[in-house]
Amino acid sequence: MIRAEHISKKYKSMVLKDITFTAQKGECIGILGANGSGKTTLLTVMAGVRRADGGRLYYNDEQALGRSRVFRKYTGYVPQTDPLIEELSAGDNLRLWSSVSLKELLGREEIRALGIEDYINKRVSRLSGGMKRRLSIAAALSSSPPVLILDEPGTGLDLKARAETADYIRSYIASGGTVVMTTHIETEIELCTRLYIIKDGVLVPVEGKPDVSELSRLI
Ligand SMILES: Nc1ncnc2c1ncn2[C@@H]1O[C@H](COP(=O)(O)OP(=O)(O)OP(=O)(O)O)[C@@H](O)[C@H]1O
Ligand SMILES: [Mg+2]
Repeated sequence: MIRAEHISKKYKSMVLKDITFTAQKGECIGILGANGSGKTTLLTVMAGVRRADGGRLYYNDEQALGRSRVFRKYTGYVPQTDPLIEELSAGDNLRLWSSVSLKELLGREEIRALGIEDYINKRVSRLSGGMKRRLSIAAALSSSPPVLILDEPGTGLDLKARAETADYIRSYIASGGTVVMTTHIETEIELCTRLYIIKDGVLVPVEGKPDVSELSRLI
């Protein structure tokens, strides 16, 4: 479903040097790494939000870099900070993202599972962090994307909201979706079918099932 080949990205210095990996349907790829190692940069490139300087990125054999249509067709993206308009209600935020009616969107099973209907008329500025995060996921899912790109989905959430988000990710990959996510959280690391550490601009595969203290030595 995903094939990334030699992706590079430079700001002042080279943040991504040679990012190469593949992911199949039903896989959850976890990208770990120190603060500032380039995780968000990689996800923004994969979501089509930032341009890469070089390389190729295929979704289902369609080359995506430089082609916004391919990103729209395949990816849903939940950024590190929620992309919501605080002054608008939850429902109005969803209307901005979705090409289908709110009623139709809320009727979908995967959106119902997020439990946002309870606060659909509330203003975003009055929602808790977990409610906002679930709303951001709903926005990312509004186009029914086969690939979900999640930047630290559980950060800032309480244990219950984290568990709910993790349950959601589990069911999304069980139904054949592909996830690429960054995380620093142990329970989210456990969800991943494959882990990489981003270091010095390249992805290093993590072999076996190391515990968190071992992982923290590797990053
Ligand atoms: N728009 C930008 N312009 C210039 N430099 C940037 C920009 N965005 C990020 N950087 C730099 O690129 C590097 C990687 O940043 P990035 O946000 O991708 O890291 P990260 O791994 O997501 O970190 P964190 O764990 O803190 O979220 C950092 O050194 C950062 O300062
Ligand atoms: Mg980041």
